[in-house]
Amino acid sequence: MQGGGNIKEQGNSQTLLVYYSNEGSTREVARGISKRLPCELLELQPVQDVPDSKFLKYLYGGKQVFLKETPKLSSYEIQPENYDLLILGTPVWAGSYAPVIRSFIRNHFFQNQKFALFCTYRGQAMSALDKLTELVSHKDNQVITQMDIKEEILKKPDQLNQKVDEFINMLNK
Ligand SMILES: Cc1cc2nc3c(=O)[nH]c(=O)nc-3n(C[C@H](O)[C@H](O)[C@H](O)COP(=O)(O)O)c2cc1C
Repeated sequence: MQGGGNIKEQGNSQTLLVYYSNEGSTREVARGISKRLPCELLELQPVQDVPDSKFLKYLYGGKQVFLKETPKLSSYEIQPENYDLLILGTPVWAGSYAPVIRSFIRNHFFQNQKFALFCTYRGQAMSALDKLTELVSHKDNQVITQMDIKEEILKKPDQLNQKVDEFINMLNK
């Protein structure tokens, strides 16, 4: 992995938005955030993603969640530890976050790191963001805000923009 030097030491507040999206909804929200907030985007790609077939996708995805798997990630050049704020975005899978997010967190050493979390979901977000909070909450890391977006809101730009604006306002407090 290469990076652009130690950004934290440059004195500017830097934000990295890291997300995984299998079907595009989380990507859409991530891009919406990035249009309103200066940040870099990192889309996580598993080396082998879940199958396209809906049945198999739920089967394999659900299995990954229940077994707490850490799918291998394709490499990326960004150094996430160098950013002041990490925004993490995930679809809800089986009432939790997508397992590639666990892979990402396990691949790095985050200490005294600020996080903001969001998820997209179809029916029930359940405790996905609580579980994600638990995943990142160690070594003095803190979660400053979170947002869940039901997929149907993606078709309602006013509601979506309002939620995203509220989320970004919380980041700037
Ligand atoms: C394996 C799998 C499990 C899912 N589990 C849930 C769930 O527990 N609750 C829910 O509301 N949606 C669930 N969904 C739907 C996704 O959370 C929803 O479609 C999400 O917005 C997809 O994001 P993406 O388009 O960025 O992949 C699941 C989808 C998959 C593929």
